[in-house]
Amino acid sequence: MMQPYKHEPFTDFSVEDNRQAYFQALKTVEGYLGQDYPLVIDGEKITTEEKIISYNPANKEEVIGRVSKANKELAEKAMQAAVEAFKTWKRTKAEVRADVLFKAATIIRRRKHEFSALMTKEAGKPWREADADTAEAIDFLEYYGRQMLSLKDGVPVQSRSNEFNRYHYIPLGVGIIISPWNFPFAIMAGTTVAAIVSGNTVLLKPASTTPIIAAKFVEVMEEAGLPKGVLNFVPGSGAEVGDYLVDHKDTRFISFTGSRDVGLRIFERSSKLSPGQIWMKRLIAEMGGKDTIVVDSEADLELAAQSIVAGAFGFSGQKCSACSRAVIVEDVYDQVLNRVVELTNQLTVGNPAEQGNFLGPVIDNNAYKKILEYIEIGKQEGKLKTGGIGDDSKGYFVQPTVFADLTPTSRIMQEEIFGPVVGFTKAKDFTEAIEIANNTEYGLTGAVITNNREHLEQAREDFHVGNLYFNRSCTGAIVGYQPFGGFNMSGTDSKAGGPDYLLLHMQAKTTSEMY
Ligand code: SER
Repeated sequence: MMQPYKHEPFTDFSVEDNRQAYFQALKTVEGYLGQDYPLVIDGEKITTEEKIISYNPANKEEVIGRVSKANKELAEKAMQAAVEAFKTWKRTKAEVRADVLFKAATIIRRRKHEFSALMTKEAGKPWREADADTAEAIDFLEYYGRQMLSLKDGVPVQSRSNEFNRYHYIPLGVGIIISPWNFPFAIMAGTTVAAIVSGNTVLLKPASTTPIIAAKFVEVMEEAGLPKGVLNFVPGSGAEVGDYLVDHKDTRFISFTGSRDVGLRIFERSSKLSPGQIWMKRLIAEMGGKDTIVVDSEADLELAAQSIVAGAFGFSGQKCSACSRAVIVEDVYDQVLNRVVELTNQLTVGNPAEQGNFLGPVIDNNAYKKILEYIEIGKQEGKLKTGGIGDDSKGYFVQPTVFADLTPTSRIMQEEIFGPVVGFTKAKDFTEAIEIANNTEYGLTGAVITNNREHLEQAREDFHVGNLYFNRSCTGAIVGYQPFGGFNMSGTDSKAGGPDYLLLHMQAKTTSEMY
């Protein structure tokens, strides 16, 4: 009998054996740096002249690997493979499809630190963050596999005496998976396997900054027994391959995770009919966030400061769930701000391959430049309390940065920076704090630190975010425990790792027989 789902535990790196295992895994990864990876179309490995080169953001000289790059012709070939494979995969039993996910989870668990170490190298993830990313990838496989088993017989509906009614779910067709670099394993694998286990076939276009971990995942799925053509691997440019596939008449749905602007572009393009297209495409989009931690006057202020620092600077703030705004009730504003500055000054920034560093680099030169531009804006709009400095001599490092005394409508308090920058603003009371928390166009995560029960209930009603946390930070949702996804410009209100996520990849069919 199948074990009930339980999330994958995080590694305790205070244990020497675990530290040694991680160092060993880093060596394993170093042993294969710089290799070439092919496209995979209908199980065929295709090497192209043109490559996407993946670099270590902590060390610009170090090449992680080189991935073949798809163009329109190869994207078309992959589309035809996926269309063909759908004919048999959609009829493959749910148990068989789920088993592929469970086997993949087992393979990944065996090589867990290797995948994490690869993300330390390719995405600049510090150990703990990389370990959590791999754990989340495993969780998605285990959780969605079980979800599919629970959905396979449909849902009971009423039948009258002379009829026999059934209601069950069938897959949609070919999906395009466009995945992000910030959870280069978890979100890439999670969005891919949700589509696959539901009976769809897919084309996976991973983020161009982190294609190697995706290539390794495609190998795992093959090893786990996934038939050819179900998962086609087509790294390429968004403007060429991304647009071509989003526009394609055979695309039935798109599962996108990334920025607001790219999400909106896909939303618009995918709503236009292409000649020969016979459906309205479905879009599942997870976009940005501008997430707030609210601190009440009656609160554990040490917990508040710790939560802000962890939420703002974990993985250098490069999470859509990151705390980029702290809204503090005025009586405790100075105390919380000063403690946050103190804690921030204790954080170390450096090579993520070394265990102690809390912050590694940001992902690339574009991100680095954008964050430093926002820091300049912050200096105009508020008071720089700490940080504000970058160093791109070896990699793309930015010091954790705190701005104080911002107005709620300032750019630092409104626009997604996606870097280690948090802005503070003062509220006269709790009600105003919640109003300020709600005044962005996003609605992804938020947290409230208070010991006041009425205020918690007020926030539960009024704080309009998809993931609301009480007396903890606003990052680190766990698959199956805190289904993840937001409102408004944060996306299409979907919940990754939640009980209804797979349904977004399916359509319900009613059959009614008279007898
Ligand atoms: N799921 C992640 C978190 O909760 C963000 O994508 O931090």
